[in-house]
Amino acid sequence: MLSKKLEKALNDQIQIEAESSQVYLSMASWAEVKGLEGIAGFMYGHSDEERMHMLKLVKYVNERGGHAKISTLKAPKTDFVSFQKMFEELYQHEIFVSNSINDLVHVTLQEKDYATHNFLQWYVAEQLEEEALARTVLDKINLIGDDKGGLYLFDRDIQQLIVESAASDTAGE
Ligand SMILES: [Fe+2]
Ligand SMILES: [Fe+2]
Repeated sequence: MLSKKLEKALNDQIQIEAESSQVYLSMASWAEVKGLEGIAGFMYGHSDEERMHMLKLVKYVNERGGHAKISTLKAPKTDFVSFQKMFEELYQHEIFVSNSINDLVHVTLQEKDYATHNFLQWYVAEQLEEEALARTVLDKINLIGDDKGGLYLFDRDIQQLIVESAASDTAGE
């Protein structure tokens, strides 16, 4: 059985994962409207992953005798100014999520809930990967800036990144 404190902390993380999914969905839509389909595809895929992170937590909380609560979500912004700024935000957002996972892991130790501690190691590893991927993409886009030709090539490049990261996900499972 989960302690009330840990149940609350897990529910907070459920909300963060759901909001992350919305943020990336909004980025996907913005990129799609701007005509950059590779970037849009990358963001749609990332949005799905965040929903999967959320669902995994929902199931876990309920399995352990808690109640996963589905809450209202903060609306993401709908305009991202430039692709460079958008990828900067993606990177910063992943750092924010990593920090919140770390705080959550800390609560499991306080509550001496080693099963949840163990369960959360998947998220710790996932955040390392996502931060690394976000940094790689950001480094690339920083080289390009808002140069139209560069963006066009980048849009094709990022489709390759999606394929590679999907391959490494399957390999890791
Ligand atoms: Fe996530
Ligand atoms: Fe993420």
